[in-house]
Amino acid sequence: MPDVRPNEKLDRAVIFLGPPGAGKGTQAKELARKFSAPHLSTGDMLREHVAAGTSLGQRAQPIMVRGELVPDSIVLRMVADRIDRPDCSHGFVFDGFPRTVAQAQWLGELLKQHGFKPPLVVHFVIDSALILRRITGRRICRVGGEIYNLYERPPKVEGRCDKDGGELDQRPDDREEIVKTRLAAYEKQTAPLAAYYRRLGRLRDVDASKSVDEVAKRVVHIVREA
Ligand code: AP5
Repeated sequence: MPDVRPNEKLDRAVIFLGPPGAGKGTQAKELARKFSAPHLSTGDMLREHVAAGTSLGQRAQPIMVRGELVPDSIVLRMVADRIDRPDCSHGFVFDGFPRTVAQAQWLGELLKQHGFKPPLVVHFVIDSALILRRITGRRICRVGGEIYNLYERPPKVEGRCDKDGGELDQRPDDREEIVKTRLAAYEKQTAPLAAYYRRLGRLRDVDASKSVDEVAKRVVHIVREA
């Protein structure tokens, strides 16, 4: 990961847009860490609700397991509440949100109300052949959420996180048959967002098939140039 100057702030919303398994979460964690900004993953927020057994989690869980998108009535309230928190005042990194043009339009209005500049959208471009390998090989630390890959980024000790020794899990929606539905949902509902943001002049492409470090360098470059 390239160095970032001390006290450097994002000062806006940075949106990571791309198909399942493209590496959005991996890069969003790093960028957020470097810029001391919150990493807002709607997938992680929903999984936390599922794990805690909240009523929101109970509604979302069967939809997520099928690989479909959770309704806006659930997701938008969750995002609005999160942006209201004080740690978001200097910008944040969205990972997995927005996912439809309607969500993007709603977000545009919300950012205006909060006095933010227009968002910067980093578009993860990747060949579909690589996606399945990345998703089926993914394992996530139960404790700190660190992301590994059995093929590309294995832990030093099998089944254990390098950072905190936590047990590594596979997401229930990372099974091959569910991944097909997730990819279809992406193509139909989320991919049109690239054209939407490109028209607004907000989109920057990243070749997500490169190594984690190479993608990270390109992302920091894009953020600094914006
Ligand atoms: P969500 O959690 O957002 O999943 P996703 O978008 O499908 O993305 P993933 O988390 O699968 O992939 P990623 O791009 O973050 O890849 P990662 O960095 O982990 O959503 C889950 C579900 O929640 C949805 O299906 C939906 O039901 C619901 N949901 C969420 N948001 C919603 C919304 N806004 N509206 C409605 N519903 C919503 O990397 C993948 C693997 O590759 C890892 O193993 C990693 O180690 C490896 N890797 C990463 N980068 C590289 C690299 N450069 N080289 C080699 N390996 C790499």
